[in-house]
Amino acid sequence: MALVTSLEGQPQLREVSGIPLQASTVDNWSQIQNFEAKPDDLLICTYPKSGTTWIQEIVDMIEQNGDVEKCQRAIIQHRHPFIEWARPPQPSVLVLCRRFFLVYFKGVEKAKVMPSPRILRTHLPTQLLPLSFWKNNCKFLYVARNAKDCMVSYYHFQRMNKILPDPGTWEEYFETFISGKVAWGSWYDHVKGWWDIKDRYQVLFLFYEDIKRDPKHEIQKVMQFMGKNLDETVLDKIVQETSFEKMKENPMTNRSTVPKSILDQSISPFMRKGTVGDWKNHFTVAQNERFDEIYRQKMEGTSINFFTEL
Ligand code: A3P
Repeated sequence: MALVTSLEGQPQLREVSGIPLQASTVDNWSQIQNFEAKPDDLLICTYPKSGTTWIQEIVDMIEQNGDVEKCQRAIIQHRHPFIEWARPPQPSVLVLCRRFFLVYFKGVEKAKVMPSPRILRTHLPTQLLPLSFWKNNCKFLYVARNAKDCMVSYYHFQRMNKILPDPGTWEEYFETFISGKVAWGSWYDHVKGWWDIKDRYQVLFLFYEDIKRDPKHEIQKVMQFMGKNLDETVLDKIVQETSFEKMKENPMTNRSTVPKSILDQSISPFMRKGTVGDWKNHFTVAQNERFDEIYRQKMEGTSINFFTEL
């Protein structure tokens, strides 16, 4: 049985085994834990703000053999069920969702009725993933983004996201993030957890910064991992269609269909900057020194190195 407690000052987050999650996820926890994965499932796994939407669009473009119109069939949140998504907590939104979007009400329910092979997504750390994914030896596509840019992106996301706690000031958020008191927990533990199991399971471990630097090369890796074979022209088209500029303008990827009461893009756009190194515009020298020291301690013993080219 999962340990569930309230976190002081963060009313919308509750813990499962020490990991803060959205309360609606925790309310639905037993159904999520009992989710039945299938051997041909592909699970897209990320820590929040690591380029989930980007890799989803890449995966879908590959799956649809570069057919842009097919990728326009639904908004990105609905194409790949988010397994721990339970419900928006606001009662008015709930009523609307129940009436019009029942099938999307819970990620696990949407996944259940989806034809195979299924492509699903999660932000869960390895220790909270439903066991059936491991038992069925599913494919996992993990994207990691350097912690500093992740923190900046998450800060702006929490400013505009009305179903996550208010981040407070940047200085306050800096402390919240490094202590792992954000939804889905510590960046360090999440990335290390997935990195540590990558050679024991079918894991393709990618980095946001690599996709940014050489998208075609990384897209080719994803294609091979998915068992597909697309020609150069299709690959070039996928690179083009999944660029930040294109995805920012695309209503199927830019979250413009989400009500302002949930995502207020006048505060900060969902497709914000899409760059590497924006942390330099946010971190003070002192914060950077402190961060590097904590990073060194937390990541000691791992071979992951994010910072060489930032
Ligand atoms: P920024 O806030 O730094 O701009 P997620 O989808 O996991 O929530 O991640 C969102 C982050 O990925 C945002 O980062 C967003 O701009 C960035 N992103 C989304 N699509 C992208 C793309 N095609 N290329 C580069 N970055 C992208």
